[in-house]
Amino acid sequence: MDFTNLKSAAKSAAKTPILNRFDDPDRARAFSVSAGDLLFDYSKTSIDSTGRQALIDLFERADVASRRDAMFSGEAINETEGRAVLHTALRNLDGGPVMVGGVDVMPGVLATLKRMETFANDVREGRFKGEGGQITDVVNIGIGGSDLGPAMATLALAPYHDGPRCHYVSNVDAAHIADTLRSLDARTTLVVVASKTFTTIETMTNAATAKAWMSESVAHPAAQFAALSTAADKTGAFGIDPERVFGFEDWVGGRYSMWGPIGLALMIATGPESFRAFLKGGAWMDQHFQVAAPQENLPVMLALTGIWHNQGLDHATRAVLPYEQRLSRLPAYLQQLEMESNGKSTAMGGTTLTDNSGPIVWGEPGTNGQHAFYQLIHQGTRVVPCEFMVAAQGFEADLAHQHRLLVANCLAQSEALMRGRTLDEARAIVADKFEGAELERQAAHRVFPGNRPSTTLVYPKLTPFVLGQIIALYEHRVFVEGAILGINSYDQWGVELGKELAKALEPVVAGEVGTDGKDGSTAQLVQAVQRMSGE
Ligand code: F6P
Repeated sequence: MDFTNLKSAAKSAAKTPILNRFDDPDRARAFSVSAGDLLFDYSKTSIDSTGRQALIDLFERADVASRRDAMFSGEAINETEGRAVLHTALRNLDGGPVMVGGVDVMPGVLATLKRMETFANDVREGRFKGEGGQITDVVNIGIGGSDLGPAMATLALAPYHDGPRCHYVSNVDAAHIADTLRSLDARTTLVVVASKTFTTIETMTNAATAKAWMSESVAHPAAQFAALSTAADKTGAFGIDPERVFGFEDWVGGRYSMWGPIGLALMIATGPESFRAFLKGGAWMDQHFQVAAPQENLPVMLALTGIWHNQGLDHATRAVLPYEQRLSRLPAYLQQLEMESNGKSTAMGGTTLTDNSGPIVWGEPGTNGQHAFYQLIHQGTRVVPCEFMVAAQGFEADLAHQHRLLVANCLAQSEALMRGRTLDEARAIVADKFEGAELERQAAHRVFPGNRPSTTLVYPKLTPFVLGQIIALYEHRVFVEGAILGINSYDQWGVELGKELAKALEPVVAGEVGTDGKDGSTAQLVQAVQRMSGE
């Protein structure tokens, strides 16, 4: 994709300070998207009418609408793996047929959802028991897309949590599973092994550890295991009864899979009704994404704002800053969603990208981040576009004053980033304490450059429906950015090399194989670990 027009539009728009844009009393409304009950405000960026048109031209030149339709209609848009991309079918509760290779996949999707609901209710209501009685704890063992989505959402929907306690184990570091299992009673624990491929080394290692732990106190450990996977043969070999295996198809990518079986622990925690509301929120966004004109389309404008900052202005990172403690895992979830999808330098056709790939995504909930890294965002030499999000209402009605404080902080940050503080204003602040050269020096440290871009997403309350809307919003944003970059957002070849080398290094670390052929640094590190471990 040629970004020349975009770059020149962005360069020229950036000459006007963002604050001055508000001389136009209609600026905020005109540079926002209001849809359903969500408001996405991108007016505190340098995007102007010409810039927005350049962005929409890109959207049209990349023929994103046709690609979007191809995705929803089950074409194999994941071209490097020859697969359709149909996680949207998992939330298509009231929709029509979805065809893959001439077959409607919806009957299968709905039947699996029904089985999940029956099982979740059986666990929640005590019909499915452990050897020690009613299930008190569920341990989801998975990693990446088989962990981050449900773990993020279980935390996000804590006010709806009325089922057994849910724990998520992902890291192959034994500390993770050991610390999780330590306080649990194996006789009342259900272990859910979540792995699309059922081959991921971290997950299979932790699953084996959990099985061994379970067999210390339970006569039939496999009876307290369930599996979420596309690989029925492998779940059988692990000893899990097909009755407790919830399958899905290869047209659901790992990082897009929380809407189906991979969401089972979330469903057990919050109940099938909440889970359905979550799916409906996602489906609402699917519908909106397909019908709204680009300028009125939430995922499209969120994506185009990202393209403006990354390809237009060369800002390498973006910070995701939810003012919602329960979204504290959202940045980690989005790191996989965005960076595993769009962190690629090869275009769909095999050529090398001529511009930046997707950005580095990072963040923390506000207000915590304010007391950590916002210093750099306000006064560092690099510009970090910020994506704020905040609920109009919290759940703690008796602590509404805290929510007001939270909202005020969120809005204050975007205002401060835009306004900044001039040298004169800084001088006025310290004028009563210092004079002369010292006053100048002290004032200089208190200057904020301002003119730093941010967007804000406001939603009514973090209900399951709203969470579904937000997650689907980001999924489609990734799609639009990927389509404009001309890359395949649905493969992840870049994770393979490290996996292969780790496999080969394990016997080297164990001392069974020498370090011959390894580079000097790797050999030295292996030897240091061996020496320090005392083995
Ligand atoms: O290594 C990356 C990855 O393949 C992710 O794409 C995926 O979400 C994760 O590993 C886990 O894979 P699985 O669900 O097959 O265990």
